[in-house]
Amino acid sequence: MAEVIYSLAGKKVYVAGHRGMVGSAIVRRLASEGCEILTATRAELDLRRQEQVEVWMSKNRPDAVFLAAARVGGILANATYPADFLYDNLILQANVIQAAHRADVEKLMFLGSSCIYPKFAEQPIVEGSLLTGSLEPTNEWYAIAKIAGLKLCHAYRKQHGRDFISAMPTNLYGPDDNFDLGSSHVMPALIRKAHEAKINGEQEICIWGTGTPRREFLHVDDCADACLHLMKTYSADSHVNVGSGEDITILDLAYLVSEVVGFEGKIKCDLTKPDGTPRKLLNVGKLCALDWSPKIGLKKGIADAYRSFLDGRYLERSNKVMAGDLTGQSDISFERAETSALHATPLSTVAHHPRA
Ligand SMILES: NC(=O)c1ccc[n+]([C@@H]2O[C@H](COP(=O)([O-])OP(=O)(O)OC[C@H]3O[C@@H](n4cnc5c(N)ncnc54)[C@H](OP(=O)(O)O)[C@@H]3O)[C@@H](O)[C@H]2O)c1
Repeated sequence: MAEVIYSLAGKKVYVAGHRGMVGSAIVRRLASEGCEILTATRAELDLRRQEQVEVWMSKNRPDAVFLAAARVGGILANATYPADFLYDNLILQANVIQAAHRADVEKLMFLGSSCIYPKFAEQPIVEGSLLTGSLEPTNEWYAIAKIAGLKLCHAYRKQHGRDFISAMPTNLYGPDDNFDLGSSHVMPALIRKAHEAKINGEQEICIWGTGTPRREFLHVDDCADACLHLMKTYSADSHVNVGSGEDITILDLAYLVSEVVGFEGKIKCDLTKPDGTPRKLLNVGKLCALDWSPKIGLKKGIADAYRSFLDGRYLERSNKVMAGDLTGQSDISFERAETSALHATPLSTVAHHPRA
């Protein structure tokens, strides 16, 4: 069992981005840690405003910080607002990290993303692949900000001895996800497609490409659990990958989602659409060596995400996207759009029958 080197019990813990998918999962997970949770809405504290952040931090004096706030968006949003994606994320994270240093915060975790790695990184992707090749151009604005964020944590550790660490999660899914078909990640998009096909009595759903690309998924509650585990047991220069360590083809994922949702029709592959990267899987050896492993299996996790979809917990976000609010930061997630494999009308397709 990895040794606990930092206990959260009795501490004041600030979760930046507590209304987001990841931040809200961290708040849920912190509830059993015996700590005081500090949050502030964007209206109360715009993290892009340095003075506001410094005043808030010196007044509230958190002991620990989870930095899960970010301007998150899809390919279209990145392409349309590259300056906003780079500037907002650079400034937001720099403000929080610098203010945490000035307020003597004992421990801080910065949340990045697997998009920091080179487009053609060897699979499964080890932490050491960082800055060994060119980034995926569609999200480089976001990725460069995230790389700067993890380097800033490292720099404060090196220059000021601060215990600031970084975690890089894989594709996440779960409650509070974005289920808008125009912008969502493959998982919520599949859930919604299968659900709507079931309700409307449709005979098939369609996925982009051959269905053979492999992707890794982690339930957001497992991600939050891993973040707390790292906060308590990890203290070193390098960032740590957070993933399930397992991947699945998009076609098999479509079968699994159909089974959970109760959709009994066919799954069609739109061969006119590109497949994208054949495989994207994080090497999670470092996290495993700290005695952490995910607890929520894919099928159970999908059922949980489906429940949140049925509860309508996605509606506010979807409406935001449908209203074309690309300037709203939580409109669409890059990680979601990056692997999106669903589309409407197929031109040339191969049909698969559901498995028994
Ligand atoms: N979702 C994934 O699949 C995934 C995968 C890997 C890594 N991650 C990482 O996890 C982190 C959180 O992602 P997420 O999916 O939870 O995103 P999200 O749902 O869009 O949440 C982002 C949060 O940041 C807050 N925020 C943004 N700009 C702000 C500002 N200027 N001032 C105050 N608050 C601000 C938002 O506040 P409002 O509620 O006011 O909008 C929201 O609560 C990101 O760093 C992302 O890279 C996510």
